[in-house]
Amino acid sequence: MKIVSIVGARPQFIKAATVSRVLRANAAIHEILLHTGQHYDENMSDIFFRELNIPLPDYNLEVGSGSHATQTGIMLRGIEDILIKEKPDCTLVYGDTNSTLAGALAAAKLHIPVAHVEAGLRSFNRAMPEELNRIVTDHIADILFAPTQTAIDNLSHEGLADVTCFSGDVMYDSVLYYKDQIQRDASKYKTPGIPPEYLLATIHRAENTDNPENLKNIFQAFSRLNHSIVLPIHPRTRKILQSAFTIPANVHIIDPVGYLQMMKLTIDSTKVMTDSGGLQKEAYFLKKQCITLRTETEWIETLHDQWNIVTGSDPILIEKAAKTDLPTAAQRPGFGTGKSATIIMEKLLGF
Ligand code: UD1
Ligand code: UDP
Repeated sequence: MKIVSIVGARPQFIKAATVSRVLRANAAIHEILLHTGQHYDENMSDIFFRELNIPLPDYNLEVGSGSHATQTGIMLRGIEDILIKEKPDCTLVYGDTNSTLAGALAAAKLHIPVAHVEAGLRSFNRAMPEELNRIVTDHIADILFAPTQTAIDNLSHEGLADVTCFSGDVMYDSVLYYKDQIQRDASKYKTPGIPPEYLLATIHRAENTDNPENLKNIFQAFSRLNHSIVLPIHPRTRKILQSAFTIPANVHIIDPVGYLQMMKLTIDSTKVMTDSGGLQKEAYFLKKQCITLRTETEWIETLHDQWNIVTGSDPILIEKAAKTDLPTAAQRPGFGTGKSATIIMEKLLGF
């Protein structure tokens, strides 16, 4: 069976690492990896291929940055050419980026079956570019791998139950797979020069970076916290901060880091503050309280017992959440058993 896996952005490299490892261990599967080039900086792309042993992409479209339509349009064209040449039995797309949408659309129009990993997530906020990407991808895909019961319910409400399969979350597989390695080689993955105690933050979501008021509010809240904050900065956010803000003295900005270093940063943090989808889950899996700098979350399984507190960019809510006692309640199952990639592989073989 020939599968073309389509990736392009940081969280997709991390998800594909887990799935590719399992696909490539099966002699019946021939995986071709297509990188759209949506993310291209060394620390937004190559570092993940290297440290997570992802095979080098067979194709890199080197699409780069641009407006949504430009970026997606160039991807569509490039992906179509490759799919026509490779004639795969199926394509695999991940998550909700423009690379996901372009991959799914190019394949569906060629009548090549599309499998969507991390299907069924909904914020019910169509102002998010990711929400549009998810909805379109789910409705043109042929098999939907849902990571949670909430995702299954969302897909069922949209009439997609018959093409939905509960796989669990491949990012949970990933945390279980790498956690021991990180603890074993702790000194290798520790970030030099950061304070001994800190809150870990990331910000990159369009609703925060493209809205100066939201970004200002978040930094105002950070400046009022009685903690050091370590912020591995997404290039999108760095560009805006350079021109618009004075960084508060307690905020320690570092370049984006690799996945294993990021896991170590999360493990060693007191709490996490983020607008990232993936990091909300990793905080939960690693038993860290998360403050979600968005007005809603798709990962509602993480909300119980204040393991995840949704604050948006409201400085009062952020400050209050930062002062909330650390939860003691146990995490609940709901993201699978750490075998999501195997479930995906087996389902694809029978597809
Ligand atoms: C994209 C995804 C988002 C995902 C995020 C993961 C879409 C619509 N958004 O957002 O869902 O959460 O990736 O990180 O697909 N840039 C660089 N170097 C890079 C990559 C980006 O400098 O290697 C800068 C460019 O100025 C670019 C900006 O970041 O214009 C935004 O990049 P883009 O890929 O369009 O969106 P992200 O914000 O990364
Ligand atoms: N991440 C990383 N280095 C960083 C910041 C994040 O490896 O400097 C990882 C993070 O641990 C998670 C993934 O990137 O696994 C999340 O990606 P991102 O926040 O870019 O996108 P989202 O999940 O919001 O789509």
